[in-house]
Amino acid sequence: MIKLSIIGVGAMGGAMLEGFLRSDSFSASDISISNPHTDRLAPYAEQGVQVYADNRKAAVWGDVVFLVVKPWLVESVMEEISDVLDAERQVLVIVAAGLKAEQVRSWVEYNGKCPATFFALPNTAIAVGASMSFITRVCGTDEAEQLVINVFNAAGETMSVEARQFGAGMALASCGIAYAMRYVRAATEGGVELGFKADAAKDIVLQTIKGAALLLQKSGANPEAEIDKVTTPGGFTIRGLNAMEKEGFTNAVIEGLRNSVKF
Ligand SMILES: NC(=O)c1ccc[n+]([C@@H]2O[C@H](COP(=O)([O-])OP(=O)(O)OC[C@H]3O[C@@H](n4cnc5c(N)ncnc54)[C@H](OP(=O)(O)O)[C@@H]3O)[C@@H](O)[C@H]2O)c1
Repeated sequence: MIKLSIIGVGAMGGAMLEGFLRSDSFSASDISISNPHTDRLAPYAEQGVQVYADNRKAAVWGDVVFLVVKPWLVESVMEEISDVLDAERQVLVIVAAGLKAEQVRSWVEYNGKCPATFFALPNTAIAVGASMSFITRVCGTDEAEQLVINVFNAAGETMSVEARQFGAGMALASCGIAYAMRYVRAATEGGVELGFKADAAKDIVLQTIKGAALLLQKSGANPEAEIDKVTTPGGFTIRGLNAMEKEGFTNAVIEGLRNSVKF
């Protein structure tokens, strides 16, 4: 059984922990976590997770060690745990946006060797087993990469990408969760204006989005092909779509994505 360490259990580390715990692949006794504010740890200790205020104690535990702290803290946490890590046995996974591989390589290299180290970006849907996660290799073998993919696959889908695509993945999937939520909010507000109570409107929007996603996933079709099926010439849907485009819908989405990869 693979053991995991998660260092930093805030929004993302907590979501990862939730996702791994609810998966069939890991149980509480396979996971250790650490976080400076121990109030976050208590509920997980009750479930049987190994909890520590000391990062070094959590770090020695896992076969895969996740560092899930803010990007500007990664270097200092690395310094703190580096001498307890076992490069022969452990794989390090840094979950942080905006770091460069060369930077990280210089932090982890030891005696001219770079231990198995990966960048990863899940999204917060990992908490419910539905993440779209990206990983990219800093150092390590194909076998180590497959191990990391397998761990993330326990709580969603995982794509291995080149470093140059990592920011785009973050924009589409990590930031994308917020963009999708904005669509839900906008459509819900529209639904209320049209006469539904807010909760009912939200449920309708969610089921509609779920249906749209399933249609595309099951058919493999391009969205335009599915749109053609619901746009009767001169009908209601095409009028709605054209009004949205007049307000800049597609352009707004693309501009949002473009801006979220500017560091
Ligand atoms: N949130 C997202 O959607 C998302 C998506 C993709 C990637 N990420 C990446 O995930 C990383 C974490 O982001 P987040 O949103 O989870 O931030 P967050 O909610 O602030 O969580 C960071 C956690 O790290 C803990 N921490 C602070 N200093 C630490 C230390 N020295 N050792 C161990 N733990 C420490 C914090 O503990 P205290 O609060 O107790 O100080 C907090 O629980 C970032 O690098 C971010 O780029 C986030």
